[in-house]
Amino acid sequence: MIVRTPPMGFNTWNTFGEKISEDLIIETCDAMVEKGLRDAGYEYIVIDDCWSLRERDAEGRLQADPAKFPHGIKYLADYIHSKGMKLGMYSCVGPLTCAGYPGSLDHEFIDAKFFADNGVDYLKYDYCYHPLNIEGRTLYNRMKMALNATGRDIVFSLCNWGDDNLLDWARAVGGDLYRSTGDICDSFQSIMDIFKSQIDNFALSGPNCFNDMDMLVCGMNNVGNVSAGGCTFDEYKTHFSLWCMAQSPLMIGCDVRSVDDEMLALLKNPELIAINQDPGVRPIISAPLYDRDRCPAYAKHLENGEYAFSLTNLGDEEETVFLMLADIGLPLNGEWGFKLRDCDTGEEIDRVFEDTIKATVRSHSTRVFRGKLVKIR
Ligand code: GLA
Repeated sequence: MIVRTPPMGFNTWNTFGEKISEDLIIETCDAMVEKGLRDAGYEYIVIDDCWSLRERDAEGRLQADPAKFPHGIKYLADYIHSKGMKLGMYSCVGPLTCAGYPGSLDHEFIDAKFFADNGVDYLKYDYCYHPLNIEGRTLYNRMKMALNATGRDIVFSLCNWGDDNLLDWARAVGGDLYRSTGDICDSFQSIMDIFKSQIDNFALSGPNCFNDMDMLVCGMNNVGNVSAGGCTFDEYKTHFSLWCMAQSPLMIGCDVRSVDDEMLALLKNPELIAINQDPGVRPIISAPLYDRDRCPAYAKHLENGEYAFSLTNLGDEEETVFLMLADIGLPLNGEWGFKLRDCDTGEEIDRVFEDTIKATVRSHSTRVFRGKLVKIR
């Protein structure tokens, strides 16, 4: 299987932590269909940690907690599949998961078979309690072989937070996506720290192996398992825009059953999703010279020969943010410029940007543009 573009979906962890249940998953699935999120591209519903009993059964198999999932996992998989979506689940390389439930160490093949037999399409595989005498790459490779041995296509989501030189082996061990940082929390500081830590790390990211900067906190509004003060809408907009520019997987972390209309429109923005899902998966280019710390600007090649640009304002006041086209190599001889559309509205802008792409950007917000290089004279 080749995962050609970053996986999109929903994950239970950010909002719900251990408070997960069959009802939650079914209601989330229904909400994603009704609110148009499935049709916008969100495909996987991932049940994170805390889904199992604390003990394996007599044959050594994992068992879904019947108090949380009374009809078992296959029932949920069938329901989710009937809605045209896919089911993701979670385990861990160690003897325990991060929250202390059974992990897959020395049970990799039996657990992979459990996931396959239950119709699971995606496995997030965490790194807590990894034994120190076996290399991380070996443990992930072992689970990848176990997944392959089932004969079922299962997306393999590595979650080792960038430890142990992950970038050297994520692709080699069959990772389709790899968490490159520690856990996100619901604050602008956390979002920007994660993004900045990965700006220079996207060379490896590409089809079948995406740099995963962690689940989205958009729309959480300081409610849930990773609360840390919450963010403004503009801060969530920057988060979503940068995850799209960088082509990180898009895993919604808020409660989609109650998401408000403004946030829903952001999460469904077709222009931003098209950039996130661009088949070229080219890394972003930093425009280095103009106040990179306060007003970072990025450019990106898209597969059809077009370009995406983002302008972020990390300052406290609204201001005009610039991307100097000379900084990304455009000769300033007046012959070439960019014809762009505004990814907020989808509208074409009625002018050509010759030496600078600039726009007014609210404090902590981001604007994204997409378009073509055109000959002016
Ligand atoms: C780790 C992961 C998180 C989440 C929790 C669950 O911290 O990085 O994304 O899966 O474990 O316990």
